[in-house]
Amino acid sequence: MTKVAIFVSGGGSNMVKLVESMTGDHPARPCVVLSNQPDAGGLLRARDMGVPTVAVDHKPFGKDRPAFEAALQEALAPFEPDLICLAGFMRVLTAGFVTPWEGRMLNIHPSLLPKYRGLHTHARALEAGDTEAGCTVHEVTAELDDGPVLGQARVPVAASDTPDTLAKRVLGMEHQLYPAVLRRFVEGTRDTLYLP
Ligand code: GRF
Repeated sequence: MTKVAIFVSGGGSNMVKLVESMTGDHPARPCVVLSNQPDAGGLLRARDMGVPTVAVDHKPFGKDRPAFEAALQEALAPFEPDLICLAGFMRVLTAGFVTPWEGRMLNIHPSLLPKYRGLHTHARALEAGDTEAGCTVHEVTAELDDGPVLGQARVPVAASDTPDTLAKRVLGMEHQLYPAVLRRFVEGTRDTLYLP
């Protein structure tokens, strides 16, 4: 059984969908939900679902990313994860953390990568006049929002969209895409899944 650690910074709706998916004949189970925000709503939701949680507050570490990442790794170790799923984890992880996990760490990003790495993806898509938007699940490498694409889901952009309305539509697809890609990944499939 593959043990999955899920990293969140906010409400954790993607995390909930991942946890809910890992039942029955699914070859993975959640082992911990970890957050850099001690008051992240996602931690409460994980606890409600019976998943262990850990918070490693990044603030006391200031600009010392290596020290923060060492604390993350230490907090993670007792749960012995095989795989990490970043799900709305809003800290950039450096090569020092990522490299040992390469090939064993996934991320979901709310754009059709390689378009719009980084933040404010929906506003940027609207500004560019894109007629479709979407989300991507990819393997994490030391480059931000880079790494092999494992799945992509598209949604139409409406003329009346705001960043918020577009974000909601994309999030609905994130909730379908991430569990589907996670399962395929654990089962050994690496070719790209396209939804719908
Ligand atoms: C998602 O849109 C994710 O792609 C982005 O942050 C959002 C997190 O939402 N990076 P949630 O915490 O999973 O509800």
